[in-house]
Amino acid sequence: MRLVFFGPPGSGKGTQAKMVSDRLGIPQISTGDILREAVARGSDLGKKARSYMDAGKLVPDDIMLSLIEKRTGEADCAKGYILDGFPRTLAQAIGLDEILSQRHESIDLAILIEVSDETVITRLTRRRVCPQCHALYNLDTDPPKDDNRCDRCGVELVLRSDDEETTVRTRLNVYRNDTLPLADYYESRGILRRIDGEGRVEEVFDAIMEALTEVRQS
Ligand code: AP5
Repeated sequence: MRLVFFGPPGSGKGTQAKMVSDRLGIPQISTGDILREAVARGSDLGKKARSYMDAGKLVPDDIMLSLIEKRTGEADCAKGYILDGFPRTLAQAIGLDEILSQRHESIDLAILIEVSDETVITRLTRRRVCPQCHALYNLDTDPPKDDNRCDRCGVELVLRSDDEETTVRTRLNVYRNDTLPLADYYESRGILRRIDGEGRVEEVFDAIMEALTEVRQS
């Protein structure tokens, strides 16, 4: 299956995409993770992306589309994938459809995970990430066992540079202006499923799996 996961920052896209990836055995493609790795390596992509990301703005569409065209053409994507955080603009969604139609493929389902602004602010200012293996924690709901260290690699956890509250508010505005219109785009094609993201992680996962099962059976 080729799936799109979108929603506001902190809605749980990464958390859920990882779980669905493990369940279905298809890769999770997080454009945020790919860009953060590029920034950490200091590659050309990272140098171009850094200022946009730190400001909570979107990296230009042409950069994102060429990145996704290449990544989705790799061998591990042959049986499908989960796009986590892509597309984020109408231009990206249309560009993605063009790339896929050249391959005689299409998106099977777009999952919109919905949460309130208050939930976003609380989750992101309390989120911690492992800079090495990208494991996610939350100081309230999913804390590390050892004080601020990754359970898997023991590395000190960090607050993402774009998780300061003022930057989170910018990201929310960018989401509403640029990304939310994708709901109409995918709804008009009959492939949108809205998922309530306010519940516990396992409840949200069950709702997503139910939506996927319906699509697989139809
Ligand atoms: P990206 O990394 O994609 O950030 P985002 O979309 O803002 O999403 P987040 O990663 O912040 O949140 P999430 O929804 O994955 O939530 P998570 O599962 O971590 O992008 C970063 C930047 O890169 C962008 O701002 C942009 O600059 C650039 N970029 C990326 N893609 C781009 C594109 N396509 N085009 C242009 N620019 C692009 O969960 C959040 C927290 O909540 C965690 O602590 C988690 O443990 C906790 N949590 C999750 N679910 C629950 C739950 N159900 N209950 C309680 N806690 C929960």
